[in-house]
Amino acid sequence: MYSKLSTNIRPFTVMELLQRGVEFESAGLRVVHFEVGEPDFAVAAPIAAAAHEAITAGHTKYTAAAGMLTLRERIAEYYAEHQVGVSAEQIFITSGASGGLTLLAALLLNPGDELLMPDPSYPCNEVFARLVGASVSAIPVDASTRFQPTLQQVKDAWTERSQGILLASPANPTGTMIARETLAKITDFVRAQAGALILDEIYQGVTRNAVSYTTALAVTRDIFVLNSFSKFFGMTGWRLGWVVVPLDAAEHLTKLAQNLFISPNAPAQHAALAAFSDAAMAIHIARNEAFANRAARLAAGLESLGFKIPIMPDGAFYLYVDISHLGMTSNEFCWRLMQEYQVAVTPGDDFGQHNANRYVRFAYTTDADSIDLGIQRIASALRAWGLQG
Ligand SMILES: Cc1ncc(COP(=O)(O)O)c(C=O)c1O
Repeated sequence: MYSKLSTNIRPFTVMELLQRGVEFESAGLRVVHFEVGEPDFAVAAPIAAAAHEAITAGHTKYTAAAGMLTLRERIAEYYAEHQVGVSAEQIFITSGASGGLTLLAALLLNPGDELLMPDPSYPCNEVFARLVGASVSAIPVDASTRFQPTLQQVKDAWTERSQGILLASPANPTGTMIARETLAKITDFVRAQAGALILDEIYQGVTRNAVSYTTALAVTRDIFVLNSFSKFFGMTGWRLGWVVVPLDAAEHLTKLAQNLFISPNAPAQHAALAAFSDAAMAIHIARNEAFANRAARLAAGLESLGFKIPIMPDGAFYLYVDISHLGMTSNEFCWRLMQEYQVAVTPGDDFGQHNANRYVRFAYTTDADSIDLGIQRIASALRAWGLQG
């Protein structure tokens, strides 16, 4: 009775680990959370205040399917502040990047088509392609190319069924950005095949290093960009994001958005306008600095225990850590850490298959005290397992 898609989707190991964590917490034990891909900070006060005002003022009805024009204009201004010219007509407000992925899959893919994406990458991507009868073709990437595909890899993976490629920059789970030149070359190639390049920029602004571009739109045009209020703006539960599309896609996307979603969340859109205020921006930027400090603290702690972080990330809030020297699989490592030491870490096989057994993802969406406690517990685990010292 139920669809193949719904019955075939593999649950994430991290969800099962989390369930175990909940049990420990209800038994009064403290669990250290390195698995959550969501900022731990409370929503910035100006955003909360704007939401209250919007609800009190009755802004709780449907908006236009593409979102409120004021918000689309504000996002266009945001791009202008990054020296990128896009018009409000190219910007669609969505229900998170997840809503954006649903819309872009429906816009760009037909049944039987193939969407290329790196392995490892954000695990839900595959489901958006499958939802419209398309499939995913994985390009295995590793530390030698900073976990981003090269032009040659894209060319080799491209078949007559390929309709596009989905990249993320900074990426989840590795936090790396695709190099400017590689991005430009891949776009040219994809364009020559009459395919679509989708760039997931949900971690835009959550960057550690001096990056050479803030949005791929500064490098190349005619691409499809996904973004969200979830990460830099710290609004995960508000379910709001946006896509930027070439102007000629706007008419088709409007019809899809009308039919699939009617409109994005109205109070959240009002709140999101305040997310761009000077006061809120100062908060987001300070939090990004806190993430940078945490990244350094966690990396130093893990390295002191002998872990290798092959590539220090450019952004997002993850470290993709090699555990192969321990002689156990990533799944085994994560389960034992949770069961025996109440430390939650995400195993590599939640992000794909390539080298998945040797990597785990640590999220530093937790405070310095928890990071230190987590490192202490992992040190105890390694000693108890006879793997160190
Ligand atoms: C790379 C990437 N894309 C998309 C999403 C979806 O995010 P949201 O729907 O909250 O905007 C996530 C969430 O973690 C992500 O990591």
